[in-house]
Amino acid sequence: MLKINVKDASGLLDMDRVAALAGKSAPILDRVKAGEQKYRESLGWHDVEEWAGETWLSRYEELAEFVKKNADALVVIGVGGSNQAARAVYEALEPADGVELIWAGNSISAHSIQSVLRSLAGKRVYIDVIAKNFETLEPGIGFRALRAWLRKEYGEAYAAHVIVTGTPGQSLEALANAEGYRFLPFPEDIGGRFTALSPVGLFPLACAGADIRAIARGAKAMRETLMTTEGLDTPAMLYAAVRNELDRQGFRVEMLSFFEPRFFRFAKWWTQLYGESEGKDNKGLFPVFGNFSEDLHSLGQFIQDGTRVIFETFLDVQEQDASLVLEGDLRDGFAYLNGKDFFEINKAAYEATLLAHSRRFPCLTLQVERMDEECFGELFYFFEFACYLSGEILGVNPFDQPGVEAYKKDMFRILGK
Ligand code: PA5
Repeated sequence: MLKINVKDASGLLDMDRVAALAGKSAPILDRVKAGEQKYRESLGWHDVEEWAGETWLSRYEELAEFVKKNADALVVIGVGGSNQAARAVYEALEPADGVELIWAGNSISAHSIQSVLRSLAGKRVYIDVIAKNFETLEPGIGFRALRAWLRKEYGEAYAAHVIVTGTPGQSLEALANAEGYRFLPFPEDIGGRFTALSPVGLFPLACAGADIRAIARGAKAMRETLMTTEGLDTPAMLYAAVRNELDRQGFRVEMLSFFEPRFFRFAKWWTQLYGESEGKDNKGLFPVFGNFSEDLHSLGQFIQDGTRVIFETFLDVQEQDASLVLEGDLRDGFAYLNGKDFFEINKAAYEATLLAHSRRFPCLTLQVERMDEECFGELFYFFEFACYLSGEILGVNPFDQPGVEAYKKDMFRILGK
């Protein structure tokens, strides 16, 4: 199970203040555990059973079996909350027992969409169009481009290659009915960025051959932990209280850092979850990520020595799942590493970074047992629950996103909508 700990050699984090904030926030934790009535339209993820219980898991698997039998690739068309969670797991675990997932509908670049279309040549293709409100530009025009490709490839039979995941009763379902597409519901009671444990995140992963039952199992175990602990023993409270306390002290940027580049897409999921949920009313930490060790050679200078606005949350994977031992007799100056495994060298780099950075500012570490589906389930649930809790402590509504509308108004005007 995921563990969280704090390392602070800078002396800047006062744990008594963290404990006081957690104590004061005890009623908030109680409300978050219960799920507040005012957010009833956004809490469909809270009880994992609702969208990742036996009935739905079987439904995703059944449809995924059909796709696996008939396709080489599934193009997942979606943006933001509609694609990040599935992509996070797919790119971290590279499941082999299913179809290839290809990502589209997440940019407006002609080059990107052309490159997606080129990559489909010679493959049997299905698509999953995922959109809560089918008004977002990127999935809308991505679907147009893919639909045209499918029609050219399969003629009028193209409709059999289309699955849509949309809000029941809204335009995408109407389109599915009119055109004969298969339909999965986008949960009406979950906003995009909280949909990891629903058809949005789980169905594409089932098609790719990932063990979606293990994802659900990990999430349920994490929920159990969060629901049955109190105060700073609740890992999400420790996380939320530390980051809120650091925010109050002027650490305005939280960096999610990791030494497994496989977390890159997960980190993108995390930045969306926290940026969109907390960044409002002139409040909120700015979420960024550090893909180490690479970024230590660029951002590392600023982190260690620049304006003191950053604190760090590390993801540290405990179990080794790959191995390569350094050998050789080259006079290249690296003989001190002979016989050492890349895993061991990477761990040393993490420990050294934690030591150096924690002398400068407080650091949190989330110990992830291993890179597998169950641990991703734990991570998804942990961060979603903690985001709700942290947003409430901060005093914002974690489930809306009024700020993203501003540029859209101008864009639609320029485009003549
Ligand atoms: O979290 C959210 O609600 C958003 O980031 C959405 O996921 C994103 O804007 C995509 O929306 P839609 O699924 O309606 O295309």
